[in-house]
Amino acid sequence: MITDIFYGKMDALSLSVRSKLYFGTPSPRGGLHFELGDITVWKKWFGQSKQAQPETGYDQLNPAKIPQHVAIIMDGNGRWAQKRGLPRTFGHRAGAEALRAIVSTASEIGVGVLTAYAFSTENWKRPDEEVNLLMKLFSDYLDTEIDELHQNGVQLRFIGNLEGLAANLRDKMADARERTAGNTGLVLTLAVNYGGRAEVVHAVQALAEQVRQGAIAPEAITEELIHDHLYTAGLPDPDLIIRPSGDQRISNFLLWQSAYAEFWFTDVHWPDFKPEHLIAAIADFQRRERRFGGLKKKI
Ligand code: FPP
Repeated sequence: MITDIFYGKMDALSLSVRSKLYFGTPSPRGGLHFELGDITVWKKWFGQSKQAQPETGYDQLNPAKIPQHVAIIMDGNGRWAQKRGLPRTFGHRAGAEALRAIVSTASEIGVGVLTAYAFSTENWKRPDEEVNLLMKLFSDYLDTEIDELHQNGVQLRFIGNLEGLAANLRDKMADARERTAGNTGLVLTLAVNYGGRAEVVHAVQALAEQVRQGAIAPEAITEELIHDHLYTAGLPDPDLIIRPSGDQRISNFLLWQSAYAEFWFTDVHWPDFKPEHLIAAIADFQRRERRFGGLKKKI
């Protein structure tokens, strides 16, 4: 794949040359300079990777048992970059590229909902440079992907405390959500400024307020009502949660919703996560027996 050749070549360069390539020089958008922060240029150069998805592998899946909701913790961007002697932010850029191919594969194989953990409520603790780059990547992603996502019938949703984000990013998110709201294909849910505990607190506060106003009785609070007040209201719970990059923990992701999710882990860092990994995860999911606390109920 073109990106692999590119990064292979990058490995062979000295750190100072790599840093120059990374930082680039100011020139008009789309010019010849190497501004990898510009996702448009990135896409123009490496967009071919989208066509490079392996059709082989789909045949190992049972179309009747495709998980309705797949959620991914996109972990390992920093380690991926460090392994190549590149700044961490480089890994996030490569991570955004990896997401593109996974969205299109998930859509092709008929996954109903794909949720990607893009930024947690705890990620604000990272250096400003990294946080700013991530915010720019989200914004660029919406700018560059929205037309194609819309054409492919993808519905975009966002979960998290969106009030904590910059107004211009929030506006873009609202536009993307509204524009794609009528689409009936894959629901792509991006978790941005998301924390599972904060989500539960948010729901509990909303319900407590309704009790205070006398709109509902405390006994009327059921699991369904809590579900209806989560950011994910209206979406099915995740069937399969994928975490790349070796760590095996939930990291405050979809805490309520993951009660009966199946987990799939791989050592591959997120930027190296390819459609075949998604297919392998789903194939493994299809071999599992889900009992939901009951007895022997095949998925
Ligand atoms: C975790 O890896 C990843 C993140 C905190 C950010 C995920 C963001 C992207 C993949 C960018 C693109 C997203 C969109 C929606 C365009 P890490 O940095 O914690 O990796 P490490 O554990 O190796 O340090």
